[in-house]
Amino acid sequence: MVSSVVENRLRQITLDSPVCAVDLFCGAGGLTHGLMQAGIRVDAGLDIDRQAEFAYSQNNPGALFLDWDVGRINPTSIENLFGECEYRLLAGCAPCQPFSKLTNGLREHQSWDLLNQFGRIVKNIKPELVTMENVPELANRGHEVFSRFVRTLERLKYWIDWRVVNCDHYGVPQSRKRLVLLASRLGEISIPDGRYKTPSKRRTVRQTISGLPPLKSGEQHPSDSLHVASQLSEMNLRRIQATPHDGGCHRDWPDELVLECHRKESGKGYHSIYGRMWWDKPAPTMTTLCTGIGNGRFGHPEQDRSISLREAALIQSFPRGYDFWPQEEVLNRGAVSRMIGNAVPPKLAKAIGDAIIDHVMTV
Ligand SMILES: C[S@@+](CC[C@H](N)C(=O)[O-])C[C@H]1O[C@@H](n2cnc3c(N)ncnc32)[C@H](O)[C@@H]1O
Repeated sequence: MVSSVVENRLRQITLDSPVCAVDLFCGAGGLTHGLMQAGIRVDAGLDIDRQAEFAYSQNNPGALFLDWDVGRINPTSIENLFGECEYRLLAGCAPCQPFSKLTNGLREHQSWDLLNQFGRIVKNIKPELVTMENVPELANRGHEVFSRFVRTLERLKYWIDWRVVNCDHYGVPQSRKRLVLLASRLGEISIPDGRYKTPSKRRTVRQTISGLPPLKSGEQHPSDSLHVASQLSEMNLRRIQATPHDGGCHRDWPDELVLECHRKESGKGYHSIYGRMWWDKPAPTMTTLCTGIGNGRFGHPEQDRSISLREAALIQSFPRGYDFWPQEEVLNRGAVSRMIGNAVPPKLAKAIGDAIIDHVMTV
């Protein structure tokens, strides 16, 4: 659990905040946690995934987890969640899958409408501040649903700034592009440039995970159940052993280990799978399947295994002690991996929160 000193500090700072927030689609709380670190008081988070409740509540003191469906909720119920404060912030990161490259933005996806629902809630309660995060494809391909969201805000006379940012510019040790939108009814607002924009300043895999105890494939650390590496099959163990340390990939494998997809000309898109991360670069984008070497460049830079759940959480910039699963229960690795991969990196969220606090202090 995030230490009680940190917990008390977070609670103290956010109690007097001029901004209070409700986080739609809150998951394990990446966005909430970063906003709280910036000094914003988050009153509640909504998510239909009850498996996220433990992580959300355990690490974000004062924020109430509600398993409400954003698609069906009456806006007045959301309005009632805001406590006393000067400015209300409605924050949210609707499920990204319907807009991501993998699903090619298929329109029939049932989550497609959730951004429209976010817009509906904004229209009804008109919070002073709004922030939204999502995959870049939502804006890059000119999705109607994003244009409609922006038009709704424009009609309500919000000042708006949105752009695609790379999380590694904000201190996240990961190359992850995300669409960020900030909107305010108080005056002009803008998304800040990251303080880590210069390539030499970017946080690296080495700075983030090199201090963790070594693990073998399939091993779990006795004092941190999240520091656990997936069990590799015999063949996959041979593959990672044959992969050069520090950024190596399948190109050095002997012929008998080579996969069919790597042999084909059409398999170029699979180039990074089974690869190792580089020590001195940011990691690739953490996904919901980022602890399997067959799903991307998720091999440890030098140990013969995939990254552990704890390493993935650190690469997403969650604090070291962020708790995702109750100690007394058997760890559901799939659920935790999904929460980690889906999260807004807390350091990106903190930068958004800092911009909001600066904005309300100067308008
Ligand atoms: C991209 S994740 C959000 C991650 C979160 N903001 C964080 O930073 O950790 C999207 C979340 O939306 C939730 N979700 C999907 N449909 C929903 C609905 N109808 N109402 C509320 N939450 C929903 C999913 O369970 C998932 O946790």
